[in-house]
Amino acid sequence: MKQIQIIDAKNHVGETVKIGAWVANKRSSGKISFLQLRDGTAYFQAVVVKNEVGEEIFQLAKDLTQETSIWVTGEIREDTRSKFGYELGVKSIEVVGESHDYPITPKEHGVDFLMDHRHLWLRSSHQHAIMLIRNEIIRATYEFFNNNGFVKIDPPILTGSAPEGTTDLFETNYFDQKAYLSQSGQLYMEAAAMALGKVFSFGPTFRAEKSKTRRHLIEFWMIEPEMAFMHQEESLEVQEQYVAYLVQSVLDNCEYSLDVLGRDKEVLKRYTQLPYPRISYDDAVELLKENGFDDIEWGDDFGSPHETFIANSFDRPVFILNYPKAIKPFYMKPHPTREDLVICADMIAPEGYGEIIGGSERATDYEYLLEQIREAGLDEEEYSWYLDLRKYGSVPHSGFGLGLERTITFLAGIEHVREASPFPRLLNRIYP
Ligand code: 4AD
Repeated sequence: MKQIQIIDAKNHVGETVKIGAWVANKRSSGKISFLQLRDGTAYFQAVVVKNEVGEEIFQLAKDLTQETSIWVTGEIREDTRSKFGYELGVKSIEVVGESHDYPITPKEHGVDFLMDHRHLWLRSSHQHAIMLIRNEIIRATYEFFNNNGFVKIDPPILTGSAPEGTTDLFETNYFDQKAYLSQSGQLYMEAAAMALGKVFSFGPTFRAEKSKTRRHLIEFWMIEPEMAFMHQEESLEVQEQYVAYLVQSVLDNCEYSLDVLGRDKEVLKRYTQLPYPRISYDDAVELLKENGFDDIEWGDDFGSPHETFIANSFDRPVFILNYPKAIKPFYMKPHPTREDLVICADMIAPEGYGEIIGGSERATDYEYLLEQIREAGLDEEEYSWYLDLRKYGSVPHSGFGLGLERTITFLAGIEHVREASPFPRLLNRIYP
C-alpha cells in the first residue's frame, strides 16, 4: 500500500493509502469518531465509522489519546466543508507510540509553561505554521542572492573581533587566548567581498544583551550581504528588493501558514511595493518632536516607541538614514559634508515590528579607520588584518545585516520574537 504525507492527499483522491501521524485532537459522537491528525506537513481529519471498521478498531480509535502516534490506512476523500479540502475514511489503525497525560492541552497555558515545554509546544498548529514561514524565508534568501550573483560565504563563529561594541560579548577560552562568539560576521564578509565581489552569509550570532523585550534574542540568525564597488544608495536598493522578495515568497508559498496565524495578506501585499520611503535621522527626530515626544534629543538612539511612531507615518517599511557618528560602530563611512554623521541606514518594519535591517557604507580610508579603532578602545593589533583591506586596493563597499527572527515575527504577524526561533535563547533561559 502506498505511504503518503498528508500534504499530498490531493493527489490520491479515491486511493487507499497509509499515513504515519499523531493524534492532535479527537471527538466522538455515537457511532462515529473524528480524529484530527498531523504528520508535520499538514493537519486533516480522519473519520472512523463503527459500521465500516468494526467494533475493535472503533474502540481503539475512541480510546486514542492526544499525541499518540499511529499508522492509519484509509481512503482519501474530498471534504468540501474543511479548508484543507480532503479527509481520510479510516479502514484500520495501528498504535506506534502511546502518549499519556500530554501536558499541552487545547486549553490556554501561560507563556512560561509553554516555554518550559518548547520541545512539545513546537508541535502545535501556530508554532508549526511559524516554522514553515521561517523555512520559506531561508529558502527565498538563498534564491534571491543566488539569482543576483552573490556567493555564500561562512564567517567564523568563534572570533577575536567585536564589530558591534565590546559590551555584549560572550567570552570563551580559546587555548589560553580570549575568543568571543560572533556578534556579526561583517568584518570577515568585507574581506570576502574583496575576494569575491558580492557575498552573503547566513549564520548564528550572539549578543549578551540584558534586554528583555519582545524583539531581543540572545542567539539569533543573521543574513549579511557585503558588496564591493557599491555605495550606500545602491545597497538600499538591494535591501528593499530583498525584503519585497521575502514578502512575495511568503505570500506565494505560505498561504496555509498565514491563514493559521490570521495574518492579513492584503496588508502584506502592500510591502511588495517599491521603493520603500527614506527619512533622514535629522528629519525623524524633528517628526518625533513635532508629535509630542519630549524624551528625544538629536544624538539619542531611537527606542521602540519612537521607531513605531516613525514606521506608522508610512504604509510600508521605511529606511532611517545617516545617524550620528557617536551612536554607531567604528567601521561606518563618515558623511562627506556633515562630520557628525555616518552613511548608514536602519530599515524599520511597519506595524510596530521594529528594526529588521542595520547596514552602512564602510569607511575606506586607512588612517581614518585606524583612528576610529583607537577611539573605540579596540586593540589595533587584533584589527590589523581588517586594516589590510584598506591597504591593498581599498574600494567603496557597503553591506547590511537582516535579523531572521525579527523578519519572521514581522511577516508572520506574531507578537514576540521568541516564537520565531525553534529553541530560543533568552535572558534567563537556556532550557530546553
Ligand atoms: O544593526 P545590527 O547590530 O547590525 C550589525 O550587526 C551589522 N554588523 C550588520 C552588517 O552591516 N553586516 O544588527 C542587524 C540586525 C538588526 O536589524 C536586527 O534585525 C537583528 O540584526 N538583531 C537582533 N535580532 C534579535 N535579537 C537581537 N538581540 C538582535 N540584535 C540585532
